[in-house]
Amino acid sequence: MSAPREQFGSRIGFILAAAGSAVGIGNMVGFPVAATKNGGGAFLLIYAIFVLMVCLPVMLAEMSVGRRTKKDPFGAYKTLAPNEPHWAVSGWLAVLTPFMIGIFYTVITVWLLGYLVKIIAGDLTLLAQPETFGSFINSTDIFIYMALVAGIVFLILQGGVREGIEKAAKILMPSLFIMLLALVVFVLTLDNAFAGVQYYLIPDFSKITGAVVNAALSQAFFSLSLGMGILITYGSYLGNNNPIPSSAKLVALTDTSVAFVAGLMVLPAIFSFNPNTNTADLSDSSIGLIFSFLPKIFLALQASIGYTGASAVAAIFFLLVFFAAITSLVSIIEVPNAAIMDSTGLSRKKSLGFLGLILGTLTILASTSFGMFDWTTSFTSYAGQSKSVFDVIIDVFYETILPLNGLLICIFVIYRWKKANLNKELETGDDNYKGSIFERYVNFSVGTFIPVILFLVFVNTVALKYFGYNFIG
Ligand code: PFF
Repeated sequence: MSAPREQFGSRIGFILAAAGSAVGIGNMVGFPVAATKNGGGAFLLIYAIFVLMVCLPVMLAEMSVGRRTKKDPFGAYKTLAPNEPHWAVSGWLAVLTPFMIGIFYTVITVWLLGYLVKIIAGDLTLLAQPETFGSFINSTDIFIYMALVAGIVFLILQGGVREGIEKAAKILMPSLFIMLLALVVFVLTLDNAFAGVQYYLIPDFSKITGAVVNAALSQAFFSLSLGMGILITYGSYLGNNNPIPSSAKLVALTDTSVAFVAGLMVLPAIFSFNPNTNTADLSDSSIGLIFSFLPKIFLALQASIGYTGASAVAAIFFLLVFFAAITSLVSIIEVPNAAIMDSTGLSRKKSLGFLGLILGTLTILASTSFGMFDWTTSFTSYAGQSKSVFDVIIDVFYETILPLNGLLICIFVIYRWKKANLNKELETGDDNYKGSIFERYVNFSVGTFIPVILFLVFVNTVALKYFGYNFIG
């Protein structure tokens, strides 16, 4: 007999852990800037509609498959569709995807820690110089920070579901909320802050194009940690008395609120630095914004609050994003870890050790993609662009396979596992769900238009990324 499966200890613990996974690097800067550039309030509205109408049902599908089978994604597909190789492939993809995304996310988390340490050491002026980022990510220092990040993540995961993942979320998430609110309050007192708020919130529907709608959906899908096997895995640690529908709603609400509130921190800061900012010129990538742009803004605060004050604000910001990254990283690495434990029977410790070895090697390789090694930097090329190992991981797994995984889970739950089983699982522990309009909506949407939308996103991404062909302008 194997040991009984680990479980989250409380409903709030599960919600915080899942929200910890969802609230990530993208929430803090990527989302607010994408919103401002793409129509402000108009983007926010479309985003909210996608969260509610598309992402929430997919979230329910993932969690229910996990809780029903009490298995990692690979085991879950195999349990519900035994001896069906095509579904086994879906299970594989749902484990391989987080494994690969974990690599690039670790690289960024390592940089965050490096910046945090340097700010605390008094190096904010240095970080605000344009050439610092490039030289930092190519220095051997990053391997020290990498060892630290690996140590923190593995320490949390080694504690198990209740004493590790849940406990960490219960500490890190409330700290994150407090730091975020403190920064918002501070930033709103700066000169010109409200110009930023205006840009962020005032809707401009003329900016809404097919590409913007696609971007809003992709952002919502990533942000809620869908398509990465995470919510199947976390669902597998849920007891039957834990109501999935209402917990999922709270997770979606928390993630969206944090992204929204982050906008009230970032946009006012940008506008108070330069009231004539043209948001169209801001970088599209969270990486460029966090590591190259924001340090300049923080440094400029020294005019009003002194160097120590400016460094303190910068340190709080980097600590906040670091916490967001750690809870996401923990969730994504738990997926392959659960898959190894479930399929080999290895102990948590051994499984983590084994995973650490392969993940560590691949992460080191990925982190040399920025000029340290030529072959990882110019790894391949497609659609007329040279791509590094890091770029390929982002393109293939983050951009392309996520919507495919979402599409597969939708088809799986409705047409293979069957609607009645899905409903039964979602009704278990949630008396209000049975017969509700929401239940009918989930049944209809997951079986019809959600997979169609995800298929279109997938095809569009493939055409654009690998063939340079733009369908929607
Ligand atoms: N919701 C997470 C985020 O917005 O950053 C998605 C995520 C990405 C989770 C990568 C975990 C991860 F490693």
